[in-house]
Amino acid sequence: MSDTQIAQQADLRRTFAIISHPDAGKTTITEKLLLFGNAIQLAGSVKGKRNERHATSDWMKMEQERGISVTTSVMQFPYGGRIVNLLDTPGHEDFSEDTYRTLTAVDSALMVIDGAKGVEERTIKLMEVCRLRTTPILTFINKMDRDIRDPVEVMDEVETVLNIQCAPMTWPIGMGRHFRGVYHLYDDVIHLYKQGQGNRIPDDIRIEGLDNPEVDETLGADQAEELRMEVELVRGASHAFDLKAYRRGELTPVYFGTAMGNFGVREMLDGFVEYAPAPQPRETDTRDVSAHDTRFSGFVFKIQANMDPKHRDRVAFLRVCSGKYDKNMKMRHVRIGKDVKIADALTFMASDRAHVEKAWPGDIIGLHNHGTIQIGDTFTLGEEMRFTGIPHFAPELFKRVRLRDPLKMKALQKGLQQLSEEGATQVFMPMDNNDLIVGAVGALQFDVVAHRLKEEYKVDCLYEAVNVQTARWVYCDDAKKLDEFKRKASTNLALDGGGYLTYLAPTRVNLQMTQERWPEVRFNATREH
Ligand code: G4P
Repeated sequence: MSDTQIAQQADLRRTFAIISHPDAGKTTITEKLLLFGNAIQLAGSVKGKRNERHATSDWMKMEQERGISVTTSVMQFPYGGRIVNLLDTPGHEDFSEDTYRTLTAVDSALMVIDGAKGVEERTIKLMEVCRLRTTPILTFINKMDRDIRDPVEVMDEVETVLNIQCAPMTWPIGMGRHFRGVYHLYDDVIHLYKQGQGNRIPDDIRIEGLDNPEVDETLGADQAEELRMEVELVRGASHAFDLKAYRRGELTPVYFGTAMGNFGVREMLDGFVEYAPAPQPRETDTRDVSAHDTRFSGFVFKIQANMDPKHRDRVAFLRVCSGKYDKNMKMRHVRIGKDVKIADALTFMASDRAHVEKAWPGDIIGLHNHGTIQIGDTFTLGEEMRFTGIPHFAPELFKRVRLRDPLKMKALQKGLQQLSEEGATQVFMPMDNNDLIVGAVGALQFDVVAHRLKEEYKVDCLYEAVNVQTARWVYCDDAKKLDEFKRKASTNLALDGGGYLTYLAPTRVNLQMTQERWPEVRFNATREH
């Protein structure tokens, strides 16, 4: 295997996720992207989102029939001479921790904004997470077939609220019932919108050149004139596209369209494969790993349970960071210091999971997990290094778990341990009593934990309110001080599932006071694996 082949394969990859507020159109646009990638024949077959909106009971049932979400976990398809890897993120905000971690495994993101609503709260939060790694963002302003807000105003809002410059790449011609298409500001081409092509690859009806008399014939003199004026104005008043600024996360190229009508999506996708970064270098505790590095390495960013109801398996999603995965290769599971042979990694070609023979930097492979893999784990060819920057986020909700049948303690501990390793919940064991406290970022997570403990581990529990508002991971370089802190604050201290010392604060005020009292102690809101 020559080095150039790895570099070439890596450079073909574009690995990204979509960030958006619920209902902005993430599912719809995903469907259209797969259509362009020839990964599905007919749009309308991506499901798995409805369940996230449903009531908990429905969600549980869907969870068991989780076959469908397999197809939407990672989607790989070819487009424009590239291999695109789209990593899906849960739509429900209660599973946002999963989303945050998935964002650590991508090289760029597509932000979908509902043109009528503008920047919404979830987008703001996800953008903050992208900022942690200065992830480049491409923007799609959706629902142009409706009467949306003035596009200039929407871009202004993106600039001020999200603190990123906007560079319009296409410009919409009208909106709502008068939506006629988009003008590509850099290609000088008008793409005309035709309704009724939402479920297939739409015809590309173009007019070359804004000054082309065809523009007047097609749009009518008034709309044509208006478009020319608007374009002049927009060119003068907005930022020009700057590839470097985009790659630094300072500027976002903006495309307009309607995901439902499958229009404007092609122009966006063309821009995406041209400008989005290939697999980027990744930090480890010992060195930076380039995607061109020939030695295999990768990290686990997500674990999904019961993906296939027939097999009741757990799959660890590993992002390949360097080198090549070959079927039957041996890799070092760095945390446990063991070499393991991986014969049956999965890949996610659109609608089916098939066994992969090879995978390259930027690709995601699924490893069957029998309880030895945790989120954040690094796999290498033997090198002792660990990828950094795959965090746990401090839970916001806490409950005390009480067994109905006290003889099931062992099963409960095992279940909670495994669920916390998967990232499904976090578990805390107070230092000075025998309670078990589970923490979650979203309320639905508790229901899932309760359900899975019962179904998979056969333990029936009560979940009680507990006087904890937030948690912080505790570090201190001064061992003596730490001992003193442990003694004095023991009633609020616990060990988490990974054995890390955690401060469970009953109130924010208490946390603040404790921080002030112990300036030598660090209270971290995230914990790295
Ligand atoms: P999400 O995954 O981001 O939550 O959003 P999703 O794609 O499910 O879209 C949310 C709603 O917005 C859906 O309507 C969808 O059809 C609609 N939508 C998406 N893109 C467009 C667009 O370009 N134009 C218009 N007018 N609507 C769009 P729904 O009523 O919730 O579901 P459905 O019954 O239409 O499936």
